[in-house]
Amino acid sequence: MIKIENISKSYVKGKKSIDNLNLEIKDGEIFGFLGPNGAGKTTTIKMMIGVLNPDEGDILIDGKSIRKEPLEAKKEFGFVPDNPDIFLKLKGIEYLNFLSDIYEIPSEKRKERIEYLTKKFEIYDNLNSEIQSYSHGMRQKIVICGALLNNPKNWILDEPMTGLDPKSSHDLKEMMKEHTKQSNTVFFSTHVLEVAEKLCDRVGIINKGKLVFVGTFEEMKNKFKENKSLEDLFLEITESQLPIT
Ligand SMILES: Nc1ncnc2c1ncn2[C@@H]1O[C@H](COP(=O)(O)OP(=O)(O)O)[C@@H](O)[C@H]1O
Ligand SMILES: [Mg+2]
Repeated sequence: MIKIENISKSYVKGKKSIDNLNLEIKDGEIFGFLGPNGAGKTTTIKMMIGVLNPDEGDILIDGKSIRKEPLEAKKEFGFVPDNPDIFLKLKGIEYLNFLSDIYEIPSEKRKERIEYLTKKFEIYDNLNSEIQSYSHGMRQKIVICGALLNNPKNWILDEPMTGLDPKSSHDLKEMMKEHTKQSNTVFFSTHVLEVAEKLCDRVGIINKGKLVFVGTFEEMKNKFKENKSLEDLFLEITESQLPIT
């Protein structure tokens, strides 16, 4: 379970990039965090994972405060950033072993888990090459494998489908469903509405740092005008927030 409580953040004084955001993601739920570019999705996620400090508010991961007990809170989630260009000089296997060391995964268990995940994402045969030789999609896959090594209860993913080939994207979605069936939590950001509609139990829409909707797709459709395409709905929700000049 993830609880975001009254968080606000300004990068520039007087301009709130996140403005008093509240959200609760329940166990067993796939939650899609939607919004146009620059809305504040990545900023929110960086605060959830403890990379950025909110100016106000707190975030609880399975009841653990990312501000007050960051090490404990960090054990409760796996994170996939929006940019997978990390540790490029390491070989794939070195990266996964490095993460296994951090998570203190015993050697038999890590071997099994690395094999399972990398075979699933079809990068097992590339583990002895440096990450810098990987394509964008392969880098994305190895970062996902790394985030899931520890089998965390809560998954926090920033635009995870970007750059994945259709099969890997499908596999990841199936894994998300499987994960939440076992009463775990998946929180991911996306700007692709169709992905969210098919996959998410609920969605939140953020625009200009403010949460403008939380609920199911059905509720979103009911709340706004009927028979509109998703794209129209999305534009209506986000554009109605624009200041009138
Ligand atoms: N490091 C930063 N310094 C200053 N402003 C930033 C920084 N990162 C993001 N922003 C601003 O914060 C807002 C939200 O950005 P971001 O969270 O990256 O949006 P999203 O992930 O939804 O595209 C944008 O206006 C962006 O320009
Ligand atoms: Mg982003």
